[in-house]
Amino acid sequence: MVVDGIGLLVTNRPEVGEGPLGLLRDAAVVTEGDRVSWVGPATRIPEGATAPRLDAGGACLIPGFVDSHTHLVFAGDRSEEFAARMAGRPYGAGGINTTVAATRAASDAELAAQAGRLAREALASGTTTMEVKSGYGLTVADEARALRIASSLAQDPGLPSVEPTFLGAHVVPPEHARDPDAYVELVRGPMVEACAPLARWCDAFCERGAFDADQCRKVLAAGAAHGLGLRLHANQLGPGPGAQLAAELGATSADHLTHLSPADVDALAEAGVVATLLPVAEFSTRSPYPDARRLLAAGLVVALATDCNPGTSYTTSMPLVVALAVREMGLTPDQALWGATAGGAAALDRQDIGSLGPGDRADLVILDAPSHIHLAYRPGVALVRSVVVGGRLVVDRAPAAA
Ligand code: NIG
Ligand code: FE
Repeated sequence: MVVDGIGLLVTNRPEVGEGPLGLLRDAAVVTEGDRVSWVGPATRIPEGATAPRLDAGGACLIPGFVDSHTHLVFAGDRSEEFAARMAGRPYGAGGINTTVAATRAASDAELAAQAGRLAREALASGTTTMEVKSGYGLTVADEARALRIASSLAQDPGLPSVEPTFLGAHVVPPEHARDPDAYVELVRGPMVEACAPLARWCDAFCERGAFDADQCRKVLAAGAAHGLGLRLHANQLGPGPGAQLAAELGATSADHLTHLSPADVDALAEAGVVATLLPVAEFSTRSPYPDARRLLAAGLVVALATDCNPGTSYTTSMPLVVALAVREMGLTPDQALWGATAGGAAALDRQDIGSLGPGDRADLVILDAPSHIHLAYRPGVALVRSVVVGGRLVVDRAPAAA
């Protein structure tokens, strides 16, 4: 495929274009199979690269969004809880069990249909890769089922690609409320054994009301022993040991990071843990936003993701995440775009996505806008015109009339 007529191309490959975003003007992209084979000025498209042709019409083309944190497999609705929160009730981790009950009661087909609907919604707003967590089953069978449903999304070439994560340590389910440590033993024993073959990552929720540092350490050590990469929900609802634990274990990513001490920031930077920020979780729990600039200044890699879940962040929209990160977390539009693409790739330890150079996966988005700055400048406007996943055009909307 030849994509030409690109007014502004964001490659995230500084060796290919200008600045950290590797910008090229009046550019073209050539793909072969599921990969990018060439990027450069439109006047120099290699001979022989012809049909099919996709004309960007002078618009901006970016790498597909990499949403490195979602809880897509669930059933039920918590809009009443949201409304109560907006009326002043505080958020606590306990609401998770409302969704656990609904998820356990749902059929496989219902869960798959709901996850598929959300994945299509994400695709339409430009997401081409998404991490998908279990965590609303919390029995061996229900966690494995959630991961099988996540992988079934991955089989559909018309959907974003999926990175599945085992989150058995999301919250203690009601049947173990009197003995949380017995639940931790279940998670780090039979549950991880059943789930590790279905996942690439292991996550845990380190928070008051969920799991403490020792419990998370045990679960993550078991995940690592089964070959899973590590990530952690850390310091979301208050200060706590999560960030230090992520650093201690060399986790690939620590997520949320709403309440960090200077020592936490230093530890994360020293250990090279990616900081994944989830601004819609702050938006939807009416919490203060973390300062992303402070993390960048400390040398951290900052990724942006949706945290799509029915409790704290029921959105699939990476453009909304970008807009909030710019407005509320102090990122420039360039930094936010990078965080939502290359940053997400770093949080998933992937070198072949989140950027558009030769050899990268052909995951790209044509915006209905002249530059990526419009993602923050025009908040709430659907600016995604076309989406290509693995070299296949899967979303194609006519541009808005001039
Ligand atoms: O990332 N922090 C833990 N899990 C979710 C919330 C899940 C829920 O409330 O259902 C989060 O915010
Ligand atoms: Fe989360």
